Amino acid sequence: MGVLEELVYHVIRQDFVIKFFALVGLRIISRKLKPQPDAPNPLNLKMNKEITQLTERHVAATYGRYPIALIKGKGMHVWDASGNKYLDFVAGVAVDSLGHCPPRVVQAIRKQAGQLLHVSNWFHIEPQARLAAEITRLSFGNKVFFCNSGTEANEGAIKLARRFYVDQGQKNKTEIITTYKAFHGRTLGAMSATPQEKIQKGFGPLVPSFKYVPFDDIAAMKKAITAKTCAVMVEPIQGESGVNIPDKKYLKELRKLCTKRNVLLILDEIQTGFGRTGHLFAYQGFGAKPDIMTLAKGLGAGVPIGALVMTNRVAKSLGPGTHGSTFGGNPLVCAAALASVDIVGQKDFLKNVRDTGKYFLSRLKELSRKFSIIKEVRGMGLILAIDIDGSSAAVAKDCMEQGILVNSIQPGTLRFIPPLIVSQKNIDTLIRVLTKSLARLS
Ligand SMILES: Cc1ncc(COP(=O)(O)O)c(C=O)c1O
Repeated sequence: MGVLEELVYHVIRQDFVIKFFALVGLRIISRKLKPQPDAPNPLNLKMNKEITQLTERHVAATYGRYPIALIKGKGMHVWDASGNKYLDFVAGVAVDSLGHCPPRVVQAIRKQAGQLLHVSNWFHIEPQARLAAEITRLSFGNKVFFCNSGTEANEGAIKLARRFYVDQGQKNKTEIITTYKAFHGRTLGAMSATPQEKIQKGFGPLVPSFKYVPFDDIAAMKKAITAKTCAVMVEPIQGESGVNIPDKKYLKELRKLCTKRNVLLILDEIQTGFGRTGHLFAYQGFGAKPDIMTLAKGLGAGVPIGALVMTNRVAKSLGPGTHGSTFGGNPLVCAAALASVDIVGQKDFLKNVRDTGKYFLSRLKELSRKFSIIKEVRGMGLILAIDIDGSSAAVAKDCMEQGILVNSIQPGTLRFIPPLIVSQKNIDTLIRVLTKSLARLS
């Protein structure tokens, strides 16, 4: 090889080597950037632990969390980062009413995401208008205000009740009566409406003019209402304090009392609304219409949305500038909620919730006959609970280890709020697992 030939040969070779490494490098980078849905997650086996540690290092510790990270869901099931599968009786706290990633909701989100994600409420928003029309068609309400969460919906209800009477020249009618063991949320107003020490402690002074009476006690409510009372606010069933179901006449009598004493009735249907009790709204099952109803959780089937539903009479007090929420009722969440309402609003769907709920209740009652540590079983539709003489947290942990998620809502109380698509077979699986857990505890 001559000198010139040798030089050309080296240049070509070097170029080839550079090109080769550049190509390999590019391939590695593109593989890393490109989502590979079917490839196993390279961190898979350690993932639960790694995500737990990351959470503990960087996320505010406001929740006592189980040491698993849920990364995928389909229908009644969720999977953790280490590949374990669970049957879900928690449903994101009564949110995933149609199960995980319900195809029609996912499809509606995809379509809307490609069209318009968010615009200001200074403009009309088609999915918002259509959702409000559906909610009012299916309920007592004439108007809807949209927000992002349950607590925000309740804040709106509190403001509206006060403003309604101010607009009628009754400035002193500012008092709101709520019930012991209620849960209305964590913001200042909603928390002040929530007479639980563990929620309110250390955050005072609370918003003034809240008064509390025992739940399911009409006589106490009668006594507490004064000329200063603008509203009574209750959950049709107290969810967070362990599924407390009132006497079936309670809401009807409350309705009559509120009308007679010129007080607004606010029903917090954040947990009971959207099919949970086997009626689209629980008030329909109890036969008592409110003036104001608050919704969130199941409404969006997994997307964050809250709503304040009201009659025309009170809605007059929410004129331009009185209230607002930047994200409230944005196109994306309303498109998802519309798809969800379309399914949950069907009569057959609700009948199925009632039938499955009855089956669930009967299976829990059967269990209580086997285990004397079960002190009480209660439920309506697909919101149910059992009280046990022992650690409900230990049972929930044991169930999780056996592949079922249940919720220990109070010490000694297990709550069941599965997706509304739960089947009798799913319930049988739960009962089998609970039987083993309770046997270990007994
Ligand atoms: C009856 C009720 N009201 C209000 C809330 C608060 O809702 P959010 O957590 O969406 O603010 C909850 C939440 O559990 C609830 O169950």
